[in-house]
Amino acid sequence: MQTQPIQFDAFNALADKVAQARIEAARAQLGKRAVLLCHHYQRADVYRHADITGDSLKLSRLAAQSDAAYIVFCGVHFMAEVADILSRPEQIAILPDLAAGCSMADMASLAKVERCWRELSSVLNPDEVVTPVTYINSAADLKAFCGAHGGIVCTSSNAPKILEWSFARRAKVLFFPDQHLGRWSGYKMGIPLDQMVIWNPDLEMGGLTHEQIHNAKIILWHGYCSVHQMFQPSQITKFRAQYPEGKVISHPECSFEVCAQSDAIGSTETIIRVVKESAPGTRWLVGTELNLVDRLAAEVKHEGKIVQFMADTICMCSTMQRIDPQHLAWTLENLVAGKVVNQIKVPEHEAKLAKLALEHMLDAS
Ligand code: 13P
Ligand code: SF4
Repeated sequence: MQTQPIQFDAFNALADKVAQARIEAARAQLGKRAVLLCHHYQRADVYRHADITGDSLKLSRLAAQSDAAYIVFCGVHFMAEVADILSRPEQIAILPDLAAGCSMADMASLAKVERCWRELSSVLNPDEVVTPVTYINSAADLKAFCGAHGGIVCTSSNAPKILEWSFARRAKVLFFPDQHLGRWSGYKMGIPLDQMVIWNPDLEMGGLTHEQIHNAKIILWHGYCSVHQMFQPSQITKFRAQYPEGKVISHPECSFEVCAQSDAIGSTETIIRVVKESAPGTRWLVGTELNLVDRLAAEVKHEGKIVQFMADTICMCSTMQRIDPQHLAWTLENLVAGKVVNQIKVPEHEAKLAKLALEHMLDAS
């Protein structure tokens, strides 16, 4: 009988082929006790083992509905936190490599958001005037902050609806951490660009004057995704000059200029659906992470569709990439041995408030 968890060292040097075979063997032994949720950016050698794939909204809904004892999340840290918060208390959420974080999520911390709230209090009463909205790409304590202050969570697929929910309650929104998703969603609901201001958390009062705060409808946190900021309007211009009949689709984490020049904007799940539903022979330029784009290109090739990646350089989510077959094999073999490694457990008081903000989102979307 195994007493200690199996250490990862023994898996580090496993050849990919061996790791694949061991994942399959462990999965066969675990059966329905483990469910593997995979985000669309996951690398191919892990994605092939997924029971369920999806964008953040779909995966958070399905995590809540799963009956499995173990929810193995092949994504990034905040996604596994959401799975833990929304699943039943006896279910266990696992992230195969704890270093799989989200650099955008790290751009907003509870200390900085609380300081922002305090500083806003010198100009207005934020608890009466401002709805805090956190993108799901954020730590659980920020979701809890929103839960505690009448706020809500959003994802890339429901942000406009969530803004409507927010403005139905209070006159202004504080949107963190992704400025681009906030700006694009605000713009789509008719808010002028000059009524959306940037809060720079490294500056006193976010670098804003009292007048700017009073005039703003949305205060956007100075955060962004390092993958999506690589996409540029010039790449779209070049594509359109070469292929005037081509279509462009982008993720709303791209800059405003990229979104404005795209034919369609959507979450990862939406991008996949729109390209799959398009007419045979359509040529697409896609502004989102490379693993998704490569997989999509291969899947629709037989219909004569051509799917091109927007950037000239490789743009992968390097943190999600850390979940490799070796870590997955290690995690699953431990479960077979009755050991849980890399459990993601959000402290109860935090989970309760974060769940409130997540439930507001699920009800509103
Ligand atoms: P989706 O919710 O669209 O899958 O996006 C998650 C994400 O992190 C995109 O960078
Ligand atoms: Fe975070 Fe960007 Fe990776 Fe999405 S692509 S998980 S926003 S770092």
